Amino acid sequence: MRLLLSESGALAPGTELDDASLRELYAAPSGRSWLRVNFVSSLDGAVTGPDGRSGSINTAADFRVFQLLRRLSDVVVVGAGTVRAEGYPALRDEDVDAPVLAVVSNSGALPETVARMTSPRGSALLLTRRQADPARLSSAREVLGEDNVVLVGDEAVDLVQARAALEDKGFRHLLCEGGPTLFGHLLAAGVVDEVDLTWAPAVVGGTHARIVRGTDLDVDLSPLVLVEEDGSVIGRWQVKPVRPLGPVKPLDPVESGDR
Ligand SMILES: NC(=O)c1ccc[n+]([C@@H]2O[C@H](COP(=O)([O-])OP(=O)(O)OC[C@H]3O[C@@H](n4cnc5c(N)ncnc54)[C@H](OP(=O)(O)O)[C@@H]3O)[C@@H](O)[C@H]2O)c1
Repeated sequence: MRLLLSESGALAPGTELDDASLRELYAAPSGRSWLRVNFVSSLDGAVTGPDGRSGSINTAADFRVFQLLRRLSDVVVVGAGTVRAEGYPALRDEDVDAPVLAVVSNSGALPETVARMTSPRGSALLLTRRQADPARLSSAREVLGEDNVVLVGDEAVDLVQARAALEDKGFRHLLCEGGPTLFGHLLAAGVVDEVDLTWAPAVVGGTHARIVRGTDLDVDLSPLVLVEEDGSVIGRWQVKPVRPLGPVKPLDPVESGDR
């Protein structure tokens, strides 16, 4: 994997990247929480291949960065639709570094596979709304435990509150792995700090979704890092402005997610 661009200028373009230098390039800023969103897309902008999943468009280089981002994270936030479509076997089988999974759902319907996704760091979480179906909420509480069903928002999940709830649980490195609906809502809520995108060297045609689904947005980003391997171009982009900061909440001096 070679470096094409690094905004920090610490490494020259063309540098071959070992694991340590790649990790350095993707390090989150210290002293605050950080929410990054990671996607893979085909060259023609599709987030799924012919099988309706992302597995048919990802590449070895994408998988390397995908795994690194998980290792740098305390929690992986994902929409219920993606869990239903993908099943999330990789997180379930992850090694001892596995971050906690947090599933976002308005309906409160816990996808079947989530019960098995306990990480050594704790049970999976369900982020849902107060007006979700009470029977679904109680069934989710039975599976995950009372404290792991987090109600944020009344009629719909409030993603600002959701982020704050995760921070209150001590998670400071937050990674969202989609899907497109959740990503659109996260951008609209102004809670995304960074977008990570692999552009896989394949064209799939069809009518597949793009990485963002939903309302029109006007979000500016600036590139922090671009790398390339075997035709996959992988970028790290910062959302401008970082987010409406307000008073910065001091973080506990816990061990960082950089494990
Ligand atoms: N290429 C990639 O990197 C990548 C990454 C992720 C997903 N994907 C693909 O994307 C497809 C799924 O797309 P999608 O847009 O349906 O995914 P999604 O955003 O994960 O799922 C939508 C569902 O998630 C919940 N949700 C999303 N945003 C929410 C919000 N703001 N508040 C409350 N609940 C929210 C809702 O669940 P409830 O119905 O339970 O309320 C909603 O119906 C799959 O084919 C998957 O393979 C690709």
